Amino acid sequence: MQGRAEEPAVREASGLARRTGCEAHARAHANIALAKYWGKRDAALNLPAVGSLSIALEALYTDTTVRFDDRLAKDHVELDGRPAPAEHARISRFLDCVRERVGLRSHASVSTWNSYPTSAGLASSSSGFAALAFAATRAAGLQLSVAELSALARRGSGSAARSLVGGFALLPPGRREDGGDCYAVCLMEASCWPLVVVVAITDPGSKRTGSTKGMTRTAETSPYYRAWVEASEADLAAMCDAVRTRDFPRLAELAEHSAFKLHALMLSARPPLLYWNAGTLAALEGVRGLQAEGVPVFATLDAGPQVKAVCPEAYAETVAERLGRLAGVRQLLRTGLAGPPTVREAPP
Ligand code: DP6
Repeated sequence: MQGRAEEPAVREASGLARRTGCEAHARAHANIALAKYWGKRDAALNLPAVGSLSIALEALYTDTTVRFDDRLAKDHVELDGRPAPAEHARISRFLDCVRERVGLRSHASVSTWNSYPTSAGLASSSSGFAALAFAATRAAGLQLSVAELSALARRGSGSAARSLVGGFALLPPGRREDGGDCYAVCLMEASCWPLVVVVAITDPGSKRTGSTKGMTRTAETSPYYRAWVEASEADLAAMCDAVRTRDFPRLAELAEHSAFKLHALMLSARPPLLYWNAGTLAALEGVRGLQAEGVPVFATLDAGPQVKAVCPEAYAETVAERLGRLAGVRQLLRTGLAGPPTVREAPP
């Protein structure tokens, strides 16, 4: 057996997938949305109310090992080497989806590790549930297509559906009530447009209100929620066009509009969802300053205080140097774009 051979998820559909007994390892990359998902049309099936478009990040990933074992009395979950009581119920519920699908009764041992700060608004649920979906199905002996894996990962976390395809990923909201048409597709491969993302971490701690809760509150209380959903189809279509034509200025304008509109929407919830801190504003000002000097760069933010600056490869050094100097920026991560997840053989 070839130790640690890697196998891209995309090959699964063509039948090259291998089962690794009851244990499997997967690595999936986090993604950040350029057209944001916020709001659900069905909470039970976790179906998004709006479509979204993201880029997968090479340096930000989750490694997950899943082993189903008849001898376990309950699921065991470890995150970054420690028991994970806060994540346990959500992960167990997700494993139930996999167990139901194969008629498996065994509990599982899940060991997962993030290459970046967990729950800090850096999309750890995207890489987390993508890696879990891939490793758990493989460990259960299931060989799913990429579309099936993406739809399954979506049950764990909407953004995770996009990490199953890598590159520039498009997740439509779908129309079907059973969610059968709600899975991500690769709009364009990462290598077609080598962008770089500089992440300015302004607070590595856990975020205050998780996305799931935040979305529910927004949908229930914001006077602007309907307008957000109504504009989403046109916003997304324009962004797909900007990506396909590799039009950076257009993409920059559309992505900033989506991010700032999302945060305006969050602020309009009751009570408001305010994710920014002083460092967030400093980093946004830093990006504004670079733009004023003619540097092609744009900013985006998710449900957390970190600022992600996106630019063509040639400008990454300039952007990192500028953001790294700012007082409120505690740490910088710099990454290119990533492809789909990989799966690895279990050790003997
Ligand atoms: C702001 O995918 O974390 O990052 O489906 O409830 O798990 P759940 O939400 P999640 O939300 C991501 C929200 C966002 C925007 C995005 O990634 O599209």
